[in-house]
Amino acid sequence: MKNFDITIPTRILFGRDTEKQVGACIREYGFHKVLLHYGGGSVKKNGLLDRVEESLRAEGIEYVELGGVQANPVLSMVRQGIKLCLEEQVDFILAVGGGSVIDSSKAIGDGAGNPEDDVWSYFLKEAAPVHHIPVGVILTLAASGSEMSQSAVLTNEENGLKRGFNSWTHQPLFSICNPELTYTVNKFQTGCGTVDIMMHTLERYFGWSRDSAVTDRIAEGLLKAVIEAGRIADRNPEDYEARASLMWAGSLSHNGLTGLGREFLMQVHQMEHELSGMYPRIAHGAGLSALFCSWSRFVCPAAVERFAQYAVRVWNVEMNFENPMATALAGIQATEDFFKSLQMPVSLEELQVEPEKFQEMADKCTNFGARTLPGIRELGKQEMIQIYQMAYPRR
Ligand code: NZQ
Ligand code: ZN
Repeated sequence: MKNFDITIPTRILFGRDTEKQVGACIREYGFHKVLLHYGGGSVKKNGLLDRVEESLRAEGIEYVELGGVQANPVLSMVRQGIKLCLEEQVDFILAVGGGSVIDSSKAIGDGAGNPEDDVWSYFLKEAAPVHHIPVGVILTLAASGSEMSQSAVLTNEENGLKRGFNSWTHQPLFSICNPELTYTVNKFQTGCGTVDIMMHTLERYFGWSRDSAVTDRIAEGLLKAVIEAGRIADRNPEDYEARASLMWAGSLSHNGLTGLGREFLMQVHQMEHELSGMYPRIAHGAGLSALFCSWSRFVCPAAVERFAQYAVRVWNVEMNFENPMATALAGIQATEDFFKSLQMPVSLEELQVEPEKFQEMADKCTNFGARTLPGIRELGKQEMIQIYQMAYPRR
């Protein structure tokens, strides 16, 4: 097991009606003026925003609103949010939404905390935020894990670059997680969320260091629970237990727990960010679903035992000791079949990505030749192009 150092200071208020506590919670920390940040309208339609505002008013907390965050959030909205925070002397940001709203809030918190810096320079890793305006979350979609993670991912719409960066400033102060708030998430987004949650665990599981038995068992148990809950939520969106499992697993998958003691880089995520950066209409989970099995088949020969372990422990595939590769491939196939059963894409053709863009995507993913991606198999530009090509044909 690799050495590790972990603190996960986000307070989680989990369960039915917890969003009603938001005003009191913010009051407890002593904040005065809140930026209420949300997306394209789901929180208005389902009445959540009204309930949140009521809770803030009941505690005498002032707020200003900024809605309209798009899926795969963009830099121009973040700049608008920073300006508003400075003009209105906001001292707390409340994200009401999914990963896109939360990440937009985190970036606004960075920018408004350090008005002399260009916030995009953080995403290019040219500078790091020193101060920040803290963020709290009311989560409406189980997927990104941003409600408990130190990551934020943002697209610069001027050049189609989607970049993430990790910072202590991104750790939400609290996250309110009521599974009932996800009942209105449609089938497609529920599928995207299920895939993304699995991927946050799988990308750590398929990192490149081996000895981490406790972490392995946590990851395998979590994956089994997510597969079961994903199936149920797909059929019955109002199944509380299934929605609760997805929500809690989403937070655990990306808060560090499922990767403790391992080395990993999340190669599929890196390659997916180029997809949804260049094609903002592509949902992150759908992009991952289209890439993961091709990536797996590509790297599998370098880690046959590990893929076979995954097949046996997560998918109950019988171990073929004479041909471990057959076991490994059966596990990848089971994953692909599961994604298909959720009507998730398993090819880039289904996403209408143009193959002539693969070169550009690989260029961007290597930061124009400045990096390769370490992993069980190191990926440079040529390997990335090969994986994009393998992922293209409809299956
Ligand atoms: O905008 P509204 O109208 O709210 O609709 C959203 C959006 O269209 C809708 N939605 C959310 N909650 C809903 C709902 N619809 C009905 N009922 C509800 N309760 O769902 C759509 C997608 O929302 P979005 O926030 O974009 O989805 P997700 O949570 O999957 O976030 C995706 C973003 O997070 C990034 C992704 O790259 C992508 O930009 N990620 C962030 C990470 C992090 N910060 O730790 C890690 C992830 O790997 C990921 O990269
Ligand atoms: Zn993800």
